[in-house]
Amino acid sequence: MGKLLQVAIDGPASAGKSTVAKLVAHKLNYIYCDTGAMYRAVTWAAIHDGIQLDDDESIEMILSNINIKFVPSTEGQRVFVNETEVTTEIRMPEISNNVSTVAAQVSVRKYLTDLQQKIARTGGIVMDGRDIGTTVLPSADVKIFMVASVKERALRRYKENIEKGIQTPLEILEREIEERDRKDSTRTISPLVKAVDAVQLDTTSLTIEQVVDKIMKIIEKKA
Ligand code: CDP
Ligand code: CDP
Repeated sequence: MGKLLQVAIDGPASAGKSTVAKLVAHKLNYIYCDTGAMYRAVTWAAIHDGIQLDDDESIEMILSNINIKFVPSTEGQRVFVNETEVTTEIRMPEISNNVSTVAAQVSVRKYLTDLQQKIARTGGIVMDGRDIGTTVLPSADVKIFMVASVKERALRRYKENIEKGIQTPLEILEREIEERDRKDSTRTISPLVKAVDAVQLDTTSLTIEQVVDKIMKIIEKKA
C-alpha cells in the first residue's frame, strides 16, 4: 500500500478501539495514537495537583505549567508528566471515573486537539478516541465508529480489572460505563457522536481478530 492514510477509530468506552487500533497500526507499520491516554494524563496531573476538575481556569494553569509528553510507537504509547512515567497509573479507576469531567473543558480539548492534529499531519496513523472522525481529523481517509452492548463492555472491563487485581462488581462497572458514555455524548464541545461518513462496527459478538479483519478490508479499499 503506497499512500499513507489517516485512520480514525471512535466509539464508547471498552468497545475495543485501542486493542484493535494497535493491531491495525502494527499490520500497516503506522503510528498508533491513543488520544484517550492524553485526556487521562491531563486528569492524572490535575488530580496530582489537587485542583478542581471542572474549573477551566485551573485546568488551563495545569496545561501551561505541566509538561505532558506522549511517545507514540506501533506498540502503544508511553505517557509522561514532568518526566514521571504515568502509562500504568492513568488506567486506574480513579482516573477513569474523573476523565470525562476534565475532557469536557474547553482548554483541554483545544490543547489536545492541536497536538493530535500535529501528530497526524503526515498520515500513516491510526488514531482512536471519541471525536477523531468528527473534529480532530474530519478528512480522515477511513473512519470507523465501534460500538458494543453495555453488558459486553462492562464484562470486558471486569476481566481487565481482574488481571490488574481490581475487583469491582459487574453492575457497578456497567453503571460507570453508562455514566461515562452519557457525559461524553452530551458535552457541548466535540461530543461522542458517529461521523456521518463513518462505518459503524458492532463488536459485541466479534473476536478481536474478526474486527481487525473487517477494518483491514475497509482500509485496503482506500489505499
Ligand atoms: O479506554 P476507554 O474507552 O476507557 O477510554 P479512553 O479512550 O482511554 O478515553 C478516556 C476518556 O477520555 C473518555 O471517556 C473521554 O471522556 C475522553 N476522551 C475524549 O473526550 N476525546 C477523545 N478523543 C478521547 C478520549
Ligand atoms: O479502547 P476501548 O476502551 O474501546 O477498548 P479496549 O481497551 O481496546 O478493549 C477493552 C477490552 O475488550 C480489552 O481487554 C480487549 O481485549 C477486549 N475485547 C476487544 O477489545 N474486542 C473484542 N472484540 C473482544 C474483546
